Amino acid sequence: MNLNFLKTIPVLLLFAGCAGNGGSSTTVASYLNENLPLEERIEDALSRMTLEEKVAVLHAQSKFSSAGVPRLGIPELWCTDGPHGIRPEVLWDEWNQARWTNDSCTAFPALTCLAATWNPRMAALYGRSIGEEARYREKDVLLGPGVNIYRTPLNGRNFEYMGEDPYLASRMVVPYVREVQKNGVAACVKHFALNNQETRRHSVNVVVDDRALREIYLPAFEAAVRQGGAWSVMGAYNKYRGEHCCHNRYLLNDILKGEWGFDGAVISDWGGAHDTKQSAENGLDLEFGTGTDGLRAGTRNAYDNYHLAFPYLEMLRRGEADLATLDDKVRRVLRLNFRTAMNTHKPFGSLNSPEHLAAARRIAGEGMVLLKNDGGELPLDSVAVKRLLVVGENAVKMMTVGGGSSSLKVRHEYTPMEGILEAVGDRCEVTFERGYVGDPTGSYNGVETGQDLSETRSEEQLIADAVEAAKRADAVIFVGGLNKSAYQDCEGTDRRQYGLPYAQDRVIEALAAANPHLTVVLVSGNAVAMPWLDRVPAVLEAWFSGSETGHALTDVLFGRVNPSGKLPFTFPVRLEDNAAHAMGEFPGGDSVRYNESILVGYRWHDTKAIRPLFAFGHGLSYTTFEIGNVKADRTTLTPKGVLHVTADVTNTGDRAGAEVVQLYIGDEESSLSRPVKELKGFEKVQLAPGETRTVTFEIAPEALRYYDDTKGQWVAEPGRFTAYVGAASDDIRGQVEFTLE
Ligand code: GLC
Repeated sequence: MNLNFLKTIPVLLLFAGCAGNGGSSTTVASYLNENLPLEERIEDALSRMTLEEKVAVLHAQSKFSSAGVPRLGIPELWCTDGPHGIRPEVLWDEWNQARWTNDSCTAFPALTCLAATWNPRMAALYGRSIGEEARYREKDVLLGPGVNIYRTPLNGRNFEYMGEDPYLASRMVVPYVREVQKNGVAACVKHFALNNQETRRHSVNVVVDDRALREIYLPAFEAAVRQGGAWSVMGAYNKYRGEHCCHNRYLLNDILKGEWGFDGAVISDWGGAHDTKQSAENGLDLEFGTGTDGLRAGTRNAYDNYHLAFPYLEMLRRGEADLATLDDKVRRVLRLNFRTAMNTHKPFGSLNSPEHLAAARRIAGEGMVLLKNDGGELPLDSVAVKRLLVVGENAVKMMTVGGGSSSLKVRHEYTPMEGILEAVGDRCEVTFERGYVGDPTGSYNGVETGQDLSETRSEEQLIADAVEAAKRADAVIFVGGLNKSAYQDCEGTDRRQYGLPYAQDRVIEALAAANPHLTVVLVSGNAVAMPWLDRVPAVLEAWFSGSETGHALTDVLFGRVNPSGKLPFTFPVRLEDNAAHAMGEFPGGDSVRYNESILVGYRWHDTKAIRPLFAFGHGLSYTTFEIGNVKADRTTLTPKGVLHVTADVTNTGDRAGAEVVQLYIGDEESSLSRPVKELKGFEKVQLAPGETRTVTFEIAPEALRYYDDTKGQWVAEPGRFTAYVGAASDDIRGQVEFTLE
């Protein structure tokens, strides 16, 4: 039973006391009066708090909550993972679920899938929906979204982030943050910053030059804060410039709070704070933790022993910590609290509603990327196909459980197999072959899938059985990829190989030899090698797509939805073609050097002329589009002016569809080296067959800037530039030159 209401009694007495004095008009204490300006309320609350109360609100009191001020009726703050859905309730001091029966959630697609929609309206729909679920579960802080840049295909948590390009991630994170927060729930943008690998994530010191920091790794965080208005930011586990990011003076005080004017709270990653003095002085506001046994085995590592708890209180009492800094932290936590827990104008939210499931299905269907489709293999015509074979563990294995802190408990997950069976009904005979054994387990943090994926056949037998079945089928769908188990797209571990695990390549090769009508569906959050690509007519990247995977996948496979997703990161042919593996360091040792600097992803492939397997921005449709007539309304851009680039896009096929028209800019004469071109605009356009639309991009000098680390400032250098317009970073359909004066 929730006894939180007891905490309001002091407030009610306060209220009643006022009313008791002879009937004068009742006045509530300023901090409680939501008609007053937020800052005035914060100052009033702050002035009433004791030193102990101030320190108490700066650190965890349980696994996912921090204290309020009971005496003043200021409630606790409750956090929840994660970026893809609301984690099941946990016990006070545990990671495991509390086994409630009313906290199953909607698992929305992983953020790589959202990014792959290239549609900010989908990000808004996503943010609104997940924010409503967090609100309904009475959570104040949603620990997401994650916007760490995709530097290597081996990073275990890339599936939680929005790809390799800072402009795409920036455009997609802002609506997500804004819409979450309309529910009175704070977004907590993570992991700030440079958390681009899981290997030695708690200690690795990232060495990166200022250009790459500013041009590649920070922009999405800056957009989330300055355009999205994020109410909280989570510090990363790793170090930068030798200091842990959870208490990093340069990142938190100088950049986040100084340059960007962030007025929210910096929350540590769980166990991310390692030093009391640095936690006190370097910008950490709210310390959460992984380890504590304060409720079981004495006080060692208990919450009161956290850096911003007793140790900080002792420093303050001894005059070794600055009181003004303390008050700044408390103001930020109170601001977070008043925006969320204390906010009485919040909507009520909803959980597992038909609208949320429909949103999950729509986002997933719009994010899936048709990588290859020779001979119109897809969409499958379930009328013509009488015998359909489905092969692969990922066709039946639930993916919403596992992968780390983003793991969820859903009411139901439609697997690919369930979706296929539902889609074809009795119109065709569907058979299943396991093909390979990946991870037959199915539990995480006390959530069990309940699936029995046990298998006794050998690898050889599994392949032989699949091949036999393939010979009898009209069409074959292989569903494989990764599976969020350790080393296979999972928090805490990076991948050990670029190729598909579990001998899937052998299965695919054997199937391709047995039946030419083969579609490979990849369920993953990362790029993978495809040595069999020439022998497979159709390949679809389906991502980790959440509760509605089966429905969204069959919507695309059978043509109810015309795919319009575009890759948010490059698929290199070989791992060595990726910048971090060609010249960077990965995973490094105590330090990891980003020697590739700004040449991340397509920036590297373009500049080094390395053909990718599939390029950033690539994605096919069941119709065809033409992009042409690329023009600029002027050839010279003045420092205060704007220039417009227009292009016509036409649906030249016979069915409606959407194209993502992409604008890249190249600086033809810069004093510092720059990539050949960089994404500076995109627009997703829905077109009926035969329809033409003109897309207009506005270019201001800001879009032409680079960070001059010799001067420590952004510069837009006069000279010649080229605007490229196309359907992918390696599919430019027109270009126009202009000069910046
Ligand atoms: C984890 C993750 C972070 C998550 C937090 C709480 O270690 O790094 O993303 O939100 O701890 O589970």
